[in-house]
Amino acid sequence: MSDPKPTYLSDYRPPAYRVTHTELTFDLDAKATRVKARLHMERHPQAKNGAALELDGERLTLISIAIDGQPLGEDEYSVDAERLIIESVPQTFLLDTEVEISPASNTALSGLYQSSGMFCTQCEAEGFRRITFYPDRPDVMATFSTTVIGSATTEPVLLANGNPVERGSLPEGRHFVTWDDPHPKPSYLFALVAGDLEKVEDRFTTASGREVTLQIWVEEENLGKTDHAMASLKRAMRWDEHAYGREYDLDLFMIVAVNDFNMGAMENKGLNIFNSAAVLTHPHTATDVAFQRVESIVAHEYFHNWSGNRVTCRDWFQLSLKEGFTVFRDQCFSADTNSAPVKRIEDVSFFRTAQFAEDAGPTAHPIRPDHYIEIGNFYTLTIYEKGAEVVRMLSNLVGPEAFRRGSDLYFERFDGQAVTIEDFVACMQEASGIDLSQFMLWYSQAGTPEIDAHGEYDYANGDYRLILRQRTPATPGQYDKQALHIPVRLGLVGTKSGRDLPLTLDGESLGSDTVIHLREEEQEFVFTDVSEAPVPSLLRGFSAPVKLRFPYGREDLAFLLANDSDGFNRWDAGQRLAMLALDDLIAAHRNGVEKVMDTRVVEAFRHLLNAEIDDRAVLAEMLTLPSEAYIAEQQPLVDVDAIHAARNFVKQRLATALRDDFLRLYKANDSDAPYAPDPDQIAARGLKNVALSYLMAIEDEDAIELARKQFAADHNMTDVRHALTLLTHSSRDDIAEPALKAFGEKWAHDPLVMDQWFAIQVTRPQPDVLDRVAFLMKHPAFSLKNPNKVRALIGTFAGQNRVNFHRLDGAGYRLLADVVIELNRLNPEIAARLITPLTRWARFDETRQDLMKAELERIRAEELSPNVFEVVEKALA
Ligand code: ARG
Ligand code: ZN
Repeated sequence: MSDPKPTYLSDYRPPAYRVTHTELTFDLDAKATRVKARLHMERHPQAKNGAALELDGERLTLISIAIDGQPLGEDEYSVDAERLIIESVPQTFLLDTEVEISPASNTALSGLYQSSGMFCTQCEAEGFRRITFYPDRPDVMATFSTTVIGSATTEPVLLANGNPVERGSLPEGRHFVTWDDPHPKPSYLFALVAGDLEKVEDRFTTASGREVTLQIWVEEENLGKTDHAMASLKRAMRWDEHAYGREYDLDLFMIVAVNDFNMGAMENKGLNIFNSAAVLTHPHTATDVAFQRVESIVAHEYFHNWSGNRVTCRDWFQLSLKEGFTVFRDQCFSADTNSAPVKRIEDVSFFRTAQFAEDAGPTAHPIRPDHYIEIGNFYTLTIYEKGAEVVRMLSNLVGPEAFRRGSDLYFERFDGQAVTIEDFVACMQEASGIDLSQFMLWYSQAGTPEIDAHGEYDYANGDYRLILRQRTPATPGQYDKQALHIPVRLGLVGTKSGRDLPLTLDGESLGSDTVIHLREEEQEFVFTDVSEAPVPSLLRGFSAPVKLRFPYGREDLAFLLANDSDGFNRWDAGQRLAMLALDDLIAAHRNGVEKVMDTRVVEAFRHLLNAEIDDRAVLAEMLTLPSEAYIAEQQPLVDVDAIHAARNFVKQRLATALRDDFLRLYKANDSDAPYAPDPDQIAARGLKNVALSYLMAIEDEDAIELARKQFAADHNMTDVRHALTLLTHSSRDDIAEPALKAFGEKWAHDPLVMDQWFAIQVTRPQPDVLDRVAFLMKHPAFSLKNPNKVRALIGTFAGQNRVNFHRLDGAGYRLLADVVIELNRLNPEIAARLITPLTRWARFDETRQDLMKAELERIRAEELSPNVFEVVEKALA
């Protein structure tokens, strides 16, 4: 087999033929589903006369083909593994095809497949071509009419996009439903679901008075787990009306929960299909984190109805046009619904850990890549999260009013069209009058920009001189980078007053918190009339997705932690202070010298624990140390063992020094009020569980007793899971095993809880954990065919159990590679994602580098899917 070839953005050409209307009939059968397609087609006015018709199609058995009712002869068309070509077609015509496909053997979960006995689809990005021959590209938009035929007993529910227009029974116990979707859409938004499902129904009246029926379809046993998703959906619908003036546009909106799903969820028009983990919640089965994740994913998919569906992408290089914008929208929604500062802290700490690592690794790519081999590999943190940061910068650059005018213009001007990132930015430029040409570089340059900042206060004349220097490191294929337009939000905090000082720049007074624009490689900003020596608070709210270095002393950081008016930067000062202490301890561990705890960190924590804090949710974040992954991201050469040891050392020292404070914090936030996923309760549980983590770092009898009681009280999953994790991670097997066993037996029937049970065990720091991973892979609740299980067991082990995954004998790497090799055949998209930790070899010592590369080589020797091929090639390049 020859190597798969890349697709280039520069090769984009408009389609020669359009589909104006698509009629589909599915006769469902697990092994032999028949799909009839009637495509109403016409040649594009600009296309050349006599252009051949090319349709995408994979794994389809062609049964029949006809144009305008005339069956085609063998010599009138050709079919290979990827497409069907008809050399000559009229200007306008009807194309009829019938194909056979096998949903039961579709383990890639792309196209039409079976999950827990039901039929469902996933068509983004290129799954529709596994259903029928079609111009499977987003710039072909058609109205759809879909008839689904199934067994009245095993598929009593038959769903597709749009509105049901006809239903009836057929001979031999079969029945059908026909659905009409009046909104032209690309094929990637097509969806079909058929099975034995139950629904929960609600109603929503839009701002202009349209009555919408809302349905969530689940397996019967999950009927009690939809309340939160439904409430979230209604909040999201209302929010989009207020924040963006966007209303829903059909009479029916459906969500379906399926167990086997490659991603979180999918925004198919009128029929969103969700990973069950992204929709089902119950206080006893889902944690606060899961409740919030459901809320944000329900909102995200709903928001796509405008940012993605009504206005879609011209081609897949524009993926961030819909994803970056929609993530930004869901982030703002969650910030408005919950604690805004905590939402920002959570998003940024995840971003700086995971996206920075991606941007620094061999698969680094711009938000708009210029080529890909497999688009399924580009549903990345860069496209989604960095894309959202770039939209956030735009909104800050032009200001909220112009941003709203710009988005109104975008939705109005391009409604029903497939467009590009330039089209979006042009609307923002038009609405604001601000020149965004340099800003466009954010879309084409990969890598995380680094800013080196220096400041000097001149006591004599009261000037504060700030020098910013930017540089974006080389990334694969991009060696020379241009200077970006970077908005830096800042304040100068007076060391005497502890207050933000008034800012005057070039004679203009700018208030006490402002945004300066870094456009040059190096730029100097002189603030005048600064009445006292300040500590600068830079990049407030993480105003740009960059690494900012400033030579802060520990006193400066302790000062900002106590005084910064920007909640985000207060938290960040704490993280920077902890990082300085951790750096010393990592060095001490590596050099075999005694570790000494920085008392400034202890005092800063003591201060936090005893000060009047109005925002308890932020406090919980401030008391949380940087994760091992984040610490690793800050080190030039990652020493996993030293990081683990240093972080544990800090935890233990803090716990010992502040034991009574943590105990008090625990008790003050312990409550047996009925569970609600509201910001107050979530903050209280967060604080209580942070306190318990510290107490368990000493593992004295009191702490163990508290954890056991919290586990046994069985009040809600957040508390139970946290307690179980601490017990499982303790050095005491006598307490870990009984708790794990009880939990595993109690929840054996619930796949989503069993996922958590797997994840808890494989993050154990004890070295025997690898045997446990291997053992759990044989557990009856585990299956390689279910992506949630693979993520919970294998993904969690490789991504979060750093000391054991990076074992020096290479056993962790070997285990991961074995799974990747097996999944390469079953589910290439999941296999390709799973390799990520191995691709980061360059950051480790030579021994580990060699071991990791050897596993990548072993994978490369297999017959690879394009997905895995692309990632492995980049990782070994
Ligand atoms: N568009 C979906 C979302 O809401 C994700 C689809 C992912 N598809 C895929 N093949 N990876 O973000
Ligand atoms: Zn999305």
